Amino acid sequence: MRALTWQGPNMLQVDTVPDPEIVNPKDVILRVIMSSVCGSDLHLVDGYVPTMHPGDILGHEFLGEVVETGSAVTRFSKGDRVIAISIIGCGECSHCKAKNFNCCDNSNPNSAETELAYGYTCSGIFGYSHAFGGYAGSHATYIRVPYAEVNLFKVPEGVSDEQAVFVSDAAPTGYFGADQADIQHGDTVAVWGCGGVGQMAIRSAYLMGAERVIAIDRFTDRLALAEHKAGAITINYETTDVHEALLELTGGRGPDRCIDAVGMEAHGSGLEHAYDKVKQQLRLHTERGVALRQAIHSCRKGGTVSVLGVYGGLMDKFPMGAIVNKALTLRSGQQPGQRYAERIFQHILDGEMDPSYLLTHPMDLEHSPEGYKLFKHKTEQCMRAVFKP
Ligand SMILES: NC(=O)c1ccc[n+]([C@@H]2O[C@H](COP(=O)([O-])OP(=O)(O)OC[C@H]3O[C@@H](n4cnc5c(N)ncnc54)[C@H](O)[C@@H]3O)[C@@H](O)[C@H]2O)c1
Ligand SMILES: [Zn+2]
Ligand SMILES: [Zn+2]
Repeated sequence: MRALTWQGPNMLQVDTVPDPEIVNPKDVILRVIMSSVCGSDLHLVDGYVPTMHPGDILGHEFLGEVVETGSAVTRFSKGDRVIAISIIGCGECSHCKAKNFNCCDNSNPNSAETELAYGYTCSGIFGYSHAFGGYAGSHATYIRVPYAEVNLFKVPEGVSDEQAVFVSDAAPTGYFGADQADIQHGDTVAVWGCGGVGQMAIRSAYLMGAERVIAIDRFTDRLALAEHKAGAITINYETTDVHEALLELTGGRGPDRCIDAVGMEAHGSGLEHAYDKVKQQLRLHTERGVALRQAIHSCRKGGTVSVLGVYGGLMDKFPMGAIVNKALTLRSGQQPGQRYAERIFQHILDGEMDPSYLLTHPMDLEHSPEGYKLFKHKTEQCMRAVFKP
């Protein structure tokens, strides 16, 4: 089959590789219909997530058709149109039973690296380095999905391919971010980052009762979509002082809930950003923390900061004092989309959410390296490039 492989930082190529096979009775093999880029892939492409090996297949946000089922799979059969949640759960461990699929004890066969880095093994993730399981990703003709009955969801009739593909990752991530932010009716929510994840977080915050959502980014096309498709008030951080603007919009009180949809490759200016960038490049710390620090700084007293942006290791200048002295709650996680997929499909069917506008660049898999360039540099107003093998 054909697949997009990682060869080294910023080196991607489309190769012919062996087809996946069923290795466990709970597996399903999918023919990939669509596979999207995600901001998390950029951390791999840019070389900030260790344990990538040349030849690893990227991609974790995907829609497919069932072509083969393991002997223990009864809920799916050939021809089913399904999405897979990007973070893999086993369905059997205590965490999965508590619906915390993002804390699964069993889905990562390479437990040593995350145990060493974080104290305990973390869930496996499709196409996301050997430390997170070494699973082949979805930018390929076929993909193997483990624990299929836990991680696959049939796409209901009435939901298009272009909507469904994002129920794999961007939509449940935004939904999870709003859910764990503990939004109360009438709250003002601020969202840093207007990529696919930020856009879905804005929409989800409204669905959970926010009165106003303020969105922050620097790309005018993304800010315009945040306003017109998701209903946000927008702040361009390149031309406006974010903290001042947030104070003005909230009568001096600050946003009740702050969502970081930026992560470890935050962009910025000035001394703080230069410090982060140099230290990240020298591998002296792993995160560029401008957006998260700002979210913590601007959040109102007693508020919640919900971190969706991915961070890998250690952040310098982490404002713990602001968390303690303002009595903030900090919540985070990779997305446990198994909890939300069915609710999100219902929101789509009810016309309350439509992730399809995230798909700006449909492309043949053969052109996927070009798609990553557009997505990485946000050129041609690329929100998400989606590959069709
Ligand atoms: N928790 C999860 O399960 C999960 C799932 C998917 C993605 N993610 C993470 O979410 C983050 C966003 O993903 P995406 O696909 O939307 O990525 P993206 O690259 O499309 O969007 C990131 C956006 O952040 C903006 N940004 C950069 N610096 C900023 C700053 N200082 N202030 C405000 N905005 C800033 C960029 O301009 C860009 O528009 C990434 O870190 C990704 O790894 C997490
Ligand atoms: Zn992702
Ligand atoms: Zn589990």
